[in-house]
Amino acid sequence: MKVLVTGKHGQLVQSLLDRAAAHPGLTLLAVGRPELDLADPRTIEPALARHAPDLVVNAAAYTAVDQAEDEPAVAHAVNAEAPGLLARAAVARGLPLVQISTDYVFDGALGRPYREDDAVNPLSVYGASKLAGEEAVRRENPDHLILRTAWVYSPYGRNFLKTMLKLAETRSEVHVVSDQTGNPTSALDIADGLLAAIEARRGGTAAGWGTTYHLAGTGAAGWHDFAAHIFEESRRRGGPHARVVPIATADFPTKAARPPNSRLACDRFAEAFGFAMPDWREAIAAVVGAFTDAS
Ligand SMILES: NC(=O)c1ccc[n+]([C@@H]2O[C@H](COP(=O)([O-])OP(=O)(O)OC[C@H]3O[C@@H](n4cnc5c(N)ncnc54)[C@H](OP(=O)(O)O)[C@@H]3O)[C@@H](O)[C@H]2O)c1
Repeated sequence: MKVLVTGKHGQLVQSLLDRAAAHPGLTLLAVGRPELDLADPRTIEPALARHAPDLVVNAAAYTAVDQAEDEPAVAHAVNAEAPGLLARAAVARGLPLVQISTDYVFDGALGRPYREDDAVNPLSVYGASKLAGEEAVRRENPDHLILRTAWVYSPYGRNFLKTMLKLAETRSEVHVVSDQTGNPTSALDIADGLLAAIEARRGGTAAGWGTTYHLAGTGAAGWHDFAAHIFEESRRRGGPHARVVPIATADFPTKAARPPNSRLACDRFAEAFGFAMPDWREAIAAVVGAFTDAS
């Protein structure tokens, strides 16, 4: 089975390439700019024609959450319009499409983990653009999976875990917000979950497709807990670590508002595809280990 994946240089796609090595029946065709530029709709159909995949995963996105507040038109073109065009191009070829989405479709006012059918109400341009992307995919291609994930880190690209380890090389103390709660999620685990869903599809069943799922690390944390655990795992391995000073969101103003609670309930995915995400602490240990063991 050939799977075309957009977002070639992104951390999720790098993680997918890593994990797909354990799936000999799958060929991942990772494409990026300029071959497939989601801001340029003319590049979409030729990329599908060139690679002739059996399934498409849209893991590319305009992910600069704060910058999106200043560039709403670009964020909308890439995150909202392009997924709809990709879904339309996929349906014309009879291809299923996986769209990666985000916890930032929620406003965070709920006092429990969000389920897939809970009311959405994005607080930011980025969140609104990703929500519009979900809606476009649902409208254009009934044969889809929409996977909402959250707080993603990995050995690849730019992410919170790598930023924390870098900061700890020069600082003994790091200030981190403590009043936002969510699910730290390793992109390597998202890759494993997504590959389980794709393998089920390769096995001939479309059961569970046409649905929206949450797929994020098990258990919840504040950003300060997330940072403290990264440093704890790094310290245990002789790597860089720092003391975490919890601060309030109000003390660290950002252009885009973030949901105070964006915990995601993931049981629907586990029931559909028999894959449960690891505990967020174990997942951090695996990624920190990849750095410290390599150095
Ligand atoms: N990171 C998180 O915490 C998080 C949380 C929830 C959901 N998500 C979602 O998870 C998915 C994967 O995110 P990630 O963390 O892997 O993101 P990432 O590392 O920032 O990678 C995003 C990728 O999208 C590509 N891209 C941006 N604009 C593009 C365009 N116009 N045309 C084609 N490609 C374009 C980038 O290409 P270049 O390399 O050329 O710049 C990059 O390869 C996204 O859908 C994101 O919204 C992420």
